[in-house]
Amino acid sequence: MLSGMRPTGRLHIGHYFGALDNWVKLQNDPAYDCFYFVADWHALTSDYADTTQVAQNTLEIGIDWLAAGLDPGQSTLFVQSQVPEHAELHLLLSMITPLGWLERVPTYKEQLDNVKDKDLHTYGFLGYPLLQTADIVMYGEPGAGLFVPVGEDQAPHVEMSREIVRRFNGAFGAVPEKLRGLELDHRLSVMANEKIPVQEVLVEPGLLLTTTPRIPGTDGRKMSKSYGNAVMLSEDDASIRAKARNMMTDPARKRRQDPGNPDVCPVFDWHKLFSPQGTIDRVNKECRTAEIGCVDCKGLMADALVKWIAPVRERRAEYEAHPGRVLEILDEGSKRARQVAQQTMGRVRETIFAWQKKRDEIAAMPRSAVT
Ligand code: TRP
Ligand code: SF4
Repeated sequence: MLSGMRPTGRLHIGHYFGALDNWVKLQNDPAYDCFYFVADWHALTSDYADTTQVAQNTLEIGIDWLAAGLDPGQSTLFVQSQVPEHAELHLLLSMITPLGWLERVPTYKEQLDNVKDKDLHTYGFLGYPLLQTADIVMYGEPGAGLFVPVGEDQAPHVEMSREIVRRFNGAFGAVPEKLRGLELDHRLSVMANEKIPVQEVLVEPGLLLTTTPRIPGTDGRKMSKSYGNAVMLSEDDASIRAKARNMMTDPARKRRQDPGNPDVCPVFDWHKLFSPQGTIDRVNKECRTAEIGCVDCKGLMADALVKWIAPVRERRAEYEAHPGRVLEILDEGSKRARQVAQQTMGRVRETIFAWQKKRDEIAAMPRSAVT
């Protein structure tokens, strides 16, 4: 199991329910060996101009992960740039990746068109999904499953990584002698038609789509720190209550005596995540009959959220006061990740260059040829 996050700063409750909650569940399932990493190189692909916050943001994410319940005893928590094998695999994958595949990734054109305050006309930005592919397939072992728990927005990236793995295995894996000289696309189609098995050098990852409960921002839009509509995992009670009071509600409910519809109200979405079942049932009923007003309803929700966040925030503060401990955890995890990465790269290098085979041949020669 492998997943990652870019170090964009402190995490909010949207990150919690969109990813972390699920990551913790997977970590606690003995069927999976979980690797979670901070994608600090990925931060550079869209913002090389300002790298001053990358290290601090990486630490902040580490703190939030630990606060949310990720356990370094059960999961390997690491930092991408501390495992330089990712860069080597990215390079080797780049040799066989058609430019058109990268240009056709939906987020590529979309961001080129929409993001105006950053320079995205770089090789690094185009190669983003390829770096992501390297991140993922680094942790696959032939014969075992490899899964990527991510949200819907990342599905095209994982899909592309599957195609790249197939192409890579076809390009460098063992092939029958008669097909050796053929141009790659031709060879791949002959192998597919004649059902010639492809050697599994890299493992094709499976997508594990995280189905998340709806958690809109305070204004009803997608929760995002840049919209100012998020509640951070580090947020204090007073600030949480103030944000709750200002939340958007059912826009059709203009006056206290108007009945409301909780199904279109972000406050109710939050109730469903934080409140006890009794409160949820009550709001679901009394909102529709105008028995409860929005002010009280928001107050109940804030009570529940404040109660929910307290232990997370407490653990967060504890780690924040000991950043050295967090760093140690990430360093330790990076070392562990690196051992797996080195195994994968050993296999990949040997498949491409067969240096060990060459060494063995030379070693078997008469001594005069060696010295
Ligand atoms: N692209 C992911 C994001 O923006 C981060 C990421 C980088 C990632 N490499 C990954 C996620 C590998 C899963 C697997 O959130
Ligand atoms: Fe939303 Fe609660 Fe107001 Fe109903 S009573 S509209 S659920 S805030």
